[in-house]
Amino acid sequence: MPRTTNAPIVSVDGDRLMASLMNLARIGEIDGGGCARLALTEEDRAGRDLVLGWMHELGLEVTVDVIGNVIGTWNVGVGAPVMTGSHIDTVRTGGKYDGNLGVLAGLEVIRTCQQAGLVPTRPLAVAFFTNEEGSRFAPDMMGSLVYAGGMSTETALDVVGIDGARVGDELERIGYNGASPCPGIAPHAFVELHIEQGPVLEQEGITIGAVTGVQGISWRELVLRGQSNHAGTTPMSLRRDPGYVAAEVTAFLRRLAREMGGHQVCTVGRVEFHPNLVNVVPASVAMTLDVRNTDEALLVAAENAITAEVERLCAAEHVEASWRRLTRFEPVVFDRAVIDLVAGVAREQGHSVMELPSGAGHDAQMIARMCPTAMIFVQSHRGISHNPAEHTDRDDLIAGADVLLHVMLRLAGLDPSGNRASGDSDGTTR
Ligand code: GLV
Ligand code: MN
Ligand code: MN
Repeated sequence: MPRTTNAPIVSVDGDRLMASLMNLARIGEIDGGGCARLALTEEDRAGRDLVLGWMHELGLEVTVDVIGNVIGTWNVGVGAPVMTGSHIDTVRTGGKYDGNLGVLAGLEVIRTCQQAGLVPTRPLAVAFFTNEEGSRFAPDMMGSLVYAGGMSTETALDVVGIDGARVGDELERIGYNGASPCPGIAPHAFVELHIEQGPVLEQEGITIGAVTGVQGISWRELVLRGQSNHAGTTPMSLRRDPGYVAAEVTAFLRRLAREMGGHQVCTVGRVEFHPNLVNVVPASVAMTLDVRNTDEALLVAAENAITAEVERLCAAEHVEASWRRLTRFEPVVFDRAVIDLVAGVAREQGHSVMELPSGAGHDAQMIARMCPTAMIFVQSHRGISHNPAEHTDRDDLIAGADVLLHVMLRLAGLDPSGNRASGDSDGTTR
C-alpha cells in the first residue's frame, strides 16, 4: 500500500495481513460474509489449528494452558515479553474482524520484524484467549480472566454452556486442554488491536482510537415462572403471565438507559419462552440482561433499579423471579503511559487520533490486572459488529497493524524507526 507522509520505516505487509484474515474467515463462514466459531466448537478447533500452524511457521514457542489459551512467543532478548493478542472465537453471527484482527496483526508484527531483521530487546508474544465472546459459556473473556488469576481454572472448567456442554469436556474434546499453568506469566506490557465495534471513530473521521479503558459489564439471567394455561379460556384478570413480565422488563431497560443517558446501555439479547406455543400462556421465560456503564456507581444504580422494577412487576402479576449472575466486571482504566504511547505512535505515522473508552469487553481488560495495558481501535463501518456485515476498510486494518507494530517495538526497546535499540521506552516501571 503506498504511504506518503510520515511513513514508518518498517511497515507490515498489508496483502499478507489481509490474506491471513480472509483465510481464517473461511472457517465457520456464514451467509453475509461473517463467521460462526462459537467457543470450543469444531469450528473453533479448526480456527485454532490454522493459527497455531502459523505460529509454528514463524518459529514461535507455542504453549497451550489449562484453559486452552494459546500463546506464541518469539524468544528473543531477555525479560518478560511484550504481549499482544485477542481472540478467534466469535458469536454465532459474528464478523471477520472482531478478535481475529488483533491475533493476526500480532503474527504479522512478528513476521515483519523477522523479515526486516529487527531484533527487539524483549520477547514478543501473541496470544489467542479462550472464549472471549461468552455467548456459549459465561463469563465472557474467560480465558484471559483465568490467565490473569481472576477466576480459578477449576471454576472455569466446570462452567456449563447454553447447550449443556461443560467447558472442561469441550476443551478436552477439541484437544486444547493444555498443561501450562494459570495464572500465566505477567507480560512486560500488553497492547491489543481491535475494531471499535461502535460508530465513534467513523463519525468523527478519526483513523486511530487510543482506548482509555473498558466499561463495566453486568450480565444476569432472569427466570420468570407463572401459571401456564389456555390462551382462549383464561380471563386476563386471572393470568400469571411471565411473558408479559418479560416484555415489561425489556421495555423498562430501554426506558432506564434513555433516562440515565451518558454511557448507560441495556440489552435483552436472549429470551426463551416455555412451552413457546401460540395458544398457551407461557409457564416460564428465561431472559438475559446485559447492562453496561463506564461508571461503577451508575452501573450499580442501574442494576438496583432493574431488580426493584422486576420485583414490582412480578408482585403485580403473581409471577416468581429467580436470578443467576453470569458476568460482573467493574470498569477498567488502562495505563496512561501505554495510552500515550499508542496516541504518539499513531500521530508519528500521520494518523488522526482520539482517546475513547471501549463499549465492548476485551481480553485486554483482564490482562490489565497483570501489567501496563492499553488498546488500539480502528473504525467499524456504521458501527456494526456481532453481525456478518461487520466491516473495516483495508487501509484502516493495515494502519492499526502498523501502529501495533511500532508500539510493540517501543515497548520492547526499539525506537519507532525500528532499527536502534534504546532500552524500554514505554515509561512504565516493572
Ligand atoms: C464481547 O464481545 C462483549 O463485549 O460482549
Ligand atoms: Mn472482540
Ligand atoms: Mn465480540
